[in-house]
Amino acid sequence: MEKAWWKESVVYQIYPRSFNDSNGDGIGDLNGITEKMDYLQELGIDVIWLSPVYESPNDDNGYDISNYKGIMKDFGTMEDYDRMLKSAHEHGIKIVMDLVVNHTSDEHPWFVESRKSVDNPYRDYYIWREGKEGKAPNNWGSCFSGPAWNYDEQTDMYYLHLFSPKQPDLNWDNPKVRREVFSMMDWWCQKGIDGFRMDVISMISKEPDLPDGTIKATGYGDFGPYVQNGPHVHEYLQEMNQKVLSRYDLLTVGECSGVTIEEAKKYASLDGKELNMVFQFEHMDLDGGETFKWNDRKIKLTELKQVLSKWQTELYGKAWNSLYWNNHDQPRMLSRLGDTKEYRETSAKMLATCLHMMQGTPYIYQGEELGMANAPFETLEDYRDIESINAYHELVESGQISHEDMMRYLQYKSRDNARTPVQWDDSENAGFTTGTPWIMVNPDYKQVNAKEQMSREDSVFHYYQKLIRLRKELEIIPYGAYQLLLPEDENLYVYTRSYKEEQLLVVCNFKKGGVSFAVPEEFRREGEMIIQNYPDRASEDLKKDEVALRPFETFVIRF
Ligand code: GLC
Ligand code: CA
Repeated sequence: MEKAWWKESVVYQIYPRSFNDSNGDGIGDLNGITEKMDYLQELGIDVIWLSPVYESPNDDNGYDISNYKGIMKDFGTMEDYDRMLKSAHEHGIKIVMDLVVNHTSDEHPWFVESRKSVDNPYRDYYIWREGKEGKAPNNWGSCFSGPAWNYDEQTDMYYLHLFSPKQPDLNWDNPKVRREVFSMMDWWCQKGIDGFRMDVISMISKEPDLPDGTIKATGYGDFGPYVQNGPHVHEYLQEMNQKVLSRYDLLTVGECSGVTIEEAKKYASLDGKELNMVFQFEHMDLDGGETFKWNDRKIKLTELKQVLSKWQTELYGKAWNSLYWNNHDQPRMLSRLGDTKEYRETSAKMLATCLHMMQGTPYIYQGEELGMANAPFETLEDYRDIESINAYHELVESGQISHEDMMRYLQYKSRDNARTPVQWDDSENAGFTTGTPWIMVNPDYKQVNAKEQMSREDSVFHYYQKLIRLRKELEIIPYGAYQLLLPEDENLYVYTRSYKEEQLLVVCNFKKGGVSFAVPEEFRREGEMIIQNYPDRASEDLKKDEVALRPFETFVIRF
């Protein structure tokens, strides 16, 4: 397999609003990131993926951009950005920018022009349609509740917005739009950035006749089949690749909701025609249901293993995997599959091992390396996220979900769980800000914070540091082949990696309780323990046919 720096890197995602506030206004900022560069270097990560820092009216926390070449005032200035970029590079850290080009803000000058008249030169930058019998052009519902169409009086027509009405979808079929986007990307590359994470890039090409979708629980039609992996998406990404990406040495990752294995082989093919890798959603959607993510069902381990193993084996040698448990759109995995009390650290380390020993490029979401968990939000007023607040109103006011149930679901699944401030120390507001934080700080910061984590050798932080180091030392981690053992076991996730003459055995107990592991014959021999979360576990233990694993126990043995 051909080697590349982005295949051997570990990426750390920063959600700037919640990372570190340098000026006491309660909002994280660019100077706050620069202040923490030594911390990130110590952790050992190679790349920062920076969630959007562009000018934005913040309807969706920066995922609604009004100027792609300007910095959001809350976050600082372009000089602050340049200083951060320089500091990152001096620390040996690369910067990947979030590219949000499925839509802009409705306050972007292109849209301000576009809505003025049907013959405005920017009209076709967006997707405008006539209504049908006084109603929207089709039955699609938006990701943030309500219809996917907004009526605009000015020209008596509707525009498409798959997300909020303040996030109108760009018309990628217009070559001028593609040219504008590519030239903007080039401008950032000229500045010296190191890659792009591409927001909902699988949705940029829509089925031209925009047909009605099957009605979902919300009463709206599902746009998925008509926008995900649409008719021209690969053509447009290949064009982007030729015009911009191939001219620089970048890491590119596409956020691809609705991506299948077959599609991923096109987006992230090793021949380099489109992107380096994609984020797939199958493992995140395992606890979804009728009303999508809004329930409190638990992920079944056998299903999780089946999904992740499929991606591991079917992309191998053909396309590159990205690995993640967390990001700014997901509740904390520690609260989903681990334990936030007695076994917080043990289970955080177990989850980390399970992911970081897989094939692909791992992503760490800020605070994950500290064992941060979901927040104890109590009332609707505690939430800031547009998706959560709108979903509450839509589902509770229509009587589909009771207030009590929905509050429980939000507490379990809301995106805001990932967005509480990073816990730096045990001083007021966890050392995140001297002002009033824009969203509540998780009160567990007194125990869970970076200062405490860094002071102790056996912490989650130092465990992540070790996982990152191992990936650098052992080629088998980025490049080896993956094989799942014990697919039917509901408690244990056990797999192997193989590369040249070497093998790794990865054992993870997902149960909050003891489980007996029947050691497969071929592993009852001399090996080297490379990482473990119970200090007294020894590789010799595997010479017996049964090993009694403790709650959330994990270890990796190298043969
Ligand atoms: C992506 C982002 C999410 C955002 C949405 C619309 O899924 O990760 O945060 O709300 O796209 O841009
Ligand atoms: Ca600030």
